[in-house]
Amino acid sequence: MEWSESTRRSFLKQFGAAGAAALAVTKAEGLGMGAQAPAAMGAQAGPMQSAPTPTDQKQIATREARMAWWHEAKFGMFIHWGLYSIIGQHEWVKEHEGVPIPQYEILAKHHHPKPNAARDWARLAKRAGQKYMVMTTKHHEGFCNWDTKLTDYNAMKQGPGRDLVREYVEAARAEGLRVGFYYSLMDWHHPDGAICKTDEAARRRFVDYTHGLIRELLTNYGKIDILWYDVSWPLTAAQWESERMNEMVFELQPDIIVNNRNGLEGDFATPEQHIQASEAGRAWESCMTLNESWGFNRADDQWKTPKTIVNNLITCARGGGNYLLNIGPEPDGSVPPASIEVLEAVGKWMDTNGKTIYGSERGTLNANASCNYSRKGNTLYVHVYNWPGHTPAAEWLDFYKPEVVVAIGGLKPKVLSARVFKTGKKVEFTQDEFSFRLTGLPLVAPDQPATVIEVECDGEPVVDHAAMRPLWPREKVGISI
Ligand code: GLC
Repeated sequence: MEWSESTRRSFLKQFGAAGAAALAVTKAEGLGMGAQAPAAMGAQAGPMQSAPTPTDQKQIATREARMAWWHEAKFGMFIHWGLYSIIGQHEWVKEHEGVPIPQYEILAKHHHPKPNAARDWARLAKRAGQKYMVMTTKHHEGFCNWDTKLTDYNAMKQGPGRDLVREYVEAARAEGLRVGFYYSLMDWHHPDGAICKTDEAARRRFVDYTHGLIRELLTNYGKIDILWYDVSWPLTAAQWESERMNEMVFELQPDIIVNNRNGLEGDFATPEQHIQASEAGRAWESCMTLNESWGFNRADDQWKTPKTIVNNLITCARGGGNYLLNIGPEPDGSVPPASIEVLEAVGKWMDTNGKTIYGSERGTLNANASCNYSRKGNTLYVHVYNWPGHTPAAEWLDFYKPEVVVAIGGLKPKVLSARVFKTGKKVEFTQDEFSFRLTGLPLVAPDQPATVIEVECDGEPVVDHAAMRPLWPREKVGISI
């Protein structure tokens, strides 16, 4: 099945996000996540790859320079916050539960967030080791979180009486974080939002409205670093006039980067709720929820653990991608305590180990059931997330002596030195063409949720255990000892 944006959307409409995630698993391939895969590997959300348009071509010339900070950054905070947060039953609640518009609009009058909630988000992002933020300026519900002149369905004119986007931008900047705007093209509220597909006059009005809103966002808030489009239903890129849209975006913000969800390729791909590296040379960012919902969902207690999040971040880094991790603040803007707890634990790990993630490069590194990897040049970072401790097999097998052994099948080339990243303590090792063994390690993991061992190699490290399978010496059909 080709997994284009429209098929993904219609699947999502029919079966919801959980169903889409389940289907994505069937397309598993790519980074060799193996047994440790905490998130399903699968198809990439977003449009199908196609030949670059003239606008794409212009972007290509400046892409490397525009994206340098983003590649270095690796880890960002996504924020879904809107009227749906008040109901607290997922950001698709209007459609999923069939709430009529006149009912839903009442929420706008009763939205009274605390002042400057965004400051807490930005401080939390900083503590978590995140380098950029992307906030929903308008989600599918159509409510604008900023002081737009194009509709009074906005935060300034309704309950909040303030420009929530401005507060967010200022908060992010105060913490030295890059600023991203999420913008949903799909709009469940605008009268032309659906008929624009079949009525040309409606399409004209709605496209003008959409381009106008984007223009405001990229004109009134200073330098914006990311424009994160979402859901292009019901129009095609041609009908959205997406080429012209991006041209306007780059005219207003020459250094910005844009994603691929307005029907064009954009600067980066956006796999959703799973980790999937794009082909080499194509930037990608995996976006993911901390529980199962993007918007606040008070009953959703499916929280990912710090170990899962750290491991996902490493997996993204391993494939040269970024990790955009979501919070769904409560109606008043407070971050759910469970999210704070996880992000702070991740931040603590990043304080020690962030250097093994930021600025790391894509590699050919297949994880195993204990170790995940990142790399910079010839330095391999072995992230031991299942610390082996003592195996009873060590009583008979020299392979697991002395003491605790972390072994990696299929590591090339020659290793020059190894040390525990956190403490700098040297680690003994042996290496032959089949296995690299770090030996004499302590019984208890020196760091949690993953201990990093820095391994210097005399060339670019590659880990490919499957490549050894036809090569290792086999003896008899029966037992050979
Ligand atoms: C999906 C959902 C949306 C969420 C987005 C984040 O497209 O429709 O609610 O904002 O994913 O990537």
